[in-house]
Amino acid sequence: MKKNNNTVFDCSLIDIYKVHNELGNITVLENQKNIPFDVKRIYYLYDIPGGQTRGGHAHYELEQYIIAASGSFDVILDDGENTKNFTLNRPNLALHIIPGLWRELDNFSSGSISLVLASNKYDEDDYIRDYNKFLDFKK
Ligand code: TYD
Repeated sequence: MKKNNNTVFDCSLIDIYKVHNELGNITVLENQKNIPFDVKRIYYLYDIPGGQTRGGHAHYELEQYIIAASGSFDVILDDGENTKNFTLNRPNLALHIIPGLWRELDNFSSGSISLVLASNKYDEDDYIRDYNKFLDFKK
């Protein structure tokens, strides 16, 4: 596996355009238009018990957009040297996570929904679930 130099500073929060009128809001993501990869999979976390932390892994290849479709939560990214905390708290804000970063999700508000758009289908071989193995991978 080739070295991955991605850092937490390469990830950013993206304001997604909102179509607003008196009936409410619509926010749209379209492949290659306002999302820089082709979405192959969508999943969402919900009914997360209070105080729970999710994530705790990195990916070799997978790219993701994470959105708080409802409520709020924090995403803590770690590149082996630096950590950075991102708060997702509105449905038209996305965090673009590039490959090779350890992530944890916590501080879920009650009833929150974490919507994830992913660049690939589920593949357990793309996960690094051991933090020391992750640090080795980043050396
Ligand atoms: P995981 O990605 O570890 O969850 P999180 O990072 O949110 O804590 O996945 C949790 C479990 O769900 C794990 O057993 C694998 C399974 N899973 C799938 O079967 N398909 C998927 O697309 C995802 C994301 C997870």
